[in-house]
Amino acid sequence: MLREGCEYTVELLVVSLTDKTCRMPDTNNNTVLNLRKTLAAIQSIPKEHARAMPAEFYTSVDFLELESAQLLRREWLCVGHVGEIVNAGDFFTTEILDEQLLITRDIDNVVRVLSNVCRHRGNRIAEGSGNSKRFVCQYHTWSYDNKGKLLSAPFMQDKPSFDKSKCALPEFDSEIWNGWIFVNLDGNAAPLEPRLTDLQQLIKNYHQEERFLVFIEEDTWNCNWKCLFENFMEGYHLSTTHKNTLHKITPTRLCKKMGSGEGWTGYHAYYDPNYPPRGPFHPDLTEDEKINSPMYGVYPNLVVGMATNFTLFMCLRPNGVDKVNIRWGVTGLENDPDTQMVKDYVSLCKDFNAEDREKLEVLQVALKTRHYQGGPLAPDDYEGSIWDFILYMSRFLALR
Ligand code: FES
Ligand SMILES: [Fe+2]
Repeated sequence: MLREGCEYTVELLVVSLTDKTCRMPDTNNNTVLNLRKTLAAIQSIPKEHARAMPAEFYTSVDFLELESAQLLRREWLCVGHVGEIVNAGDFFTTEILDEQLLITRDIDNVVRVLSNVCRHRGNRIAEGSGNSKRFVCQYHTWSYDNKGKLLSAPFMQDKPSFDKSKCALPEFDSEIWNGWIFVNLDGNAAPLEPRLTDLQQLIKNYHQEERFLVFIEEDTWNCNWKCLFENFMEGYHLSTTHKNTLHKITPTRLCKKMGSGEGWTGYHAYYDPNYPPRGPFHPDLTEDEKINSPMYGVYPNLVVGMATNFTLFMCLRPNGVDKVNIRWGVTGLENDPDTQMVKDYVSLCKDFNAEDREKLEVLQVALKTRHYQGGPLAPDDYEGSIWDFILYMSRFLALR
């Protein structure tokens, strides 16, 4: 739940932030109804007949509104990594689904996700990232501490009805899993961790919690957020789209489906035996774990490629139907972003990201053409994770 301080009473008028943020989609729109019927129908389709979704799944503005209201705002959304706020007072800002967020590590080392909107008249309080005990709104200089408490408001002491304690920055529910920071915007989601226990069991020997953030960057691609999720979660394209980058490391023919759970899906990208070992290895890794990267998606917006020595992750933030903002980063075994190994790995990531981006931006154009149809998906090891993801979407959005 949004914590105390988020409700502002002015005589008889009570304004609730949660009410304001629910924009109702046009669910009677034919496109939306058809998509919801399709999502209902696929629940009884056997996996062997799995198909890609119709174009409107990725292009309809009304459907995105429905997704936002009935899924994205209700779920845990990844917004960044604790490695961005290592010291007390560190902060960074971001935005997701029209919310402005200020993510802080307060003086007691508690990570908080605050509304980055001034309680006076709405100016953004903090920009970018940095370290600060105090945030001063640049409009009329109300100032807040890094727990969100209002510290001062010029001249407001002359107004007897003003109650400083009622003007704290609202705090969203947040949870940290393996170093990633998740936020729940509507404040009613069940805890995240229990629905990832089976995934955690599969990846535990890679010890993500011991990896350090060595690279972080923001990007925007011109494609629907779900296209990027699906692309990251399938190995079918590895040998073709990434012919000169990933094919020699993790060829398509060696991909193996990982299973899936309520909150995740994934596959193993096995290494070509001719590629040099990807050490140094954590001592807990088994021989089999030393030769594959678990590739997993934590629904709905975190995708991760966990190699034996580095982890690549992307937090996706829908920006309209045909744009996605991406906070992507790399974690490694050593806390040093300047080693040659880190530079080489980041450079590799940039290369294959560019290859994916090119394909996805072409695909977004194709989705608007007259004859596009979602075709049959490849077998489970190669595109089974896409089907899992569609079934996940179906759980929230199918017409009942
Ligand atoms: S809007 Fe922030 S002080 Fe006025
Ligand atoms: Fe790719």
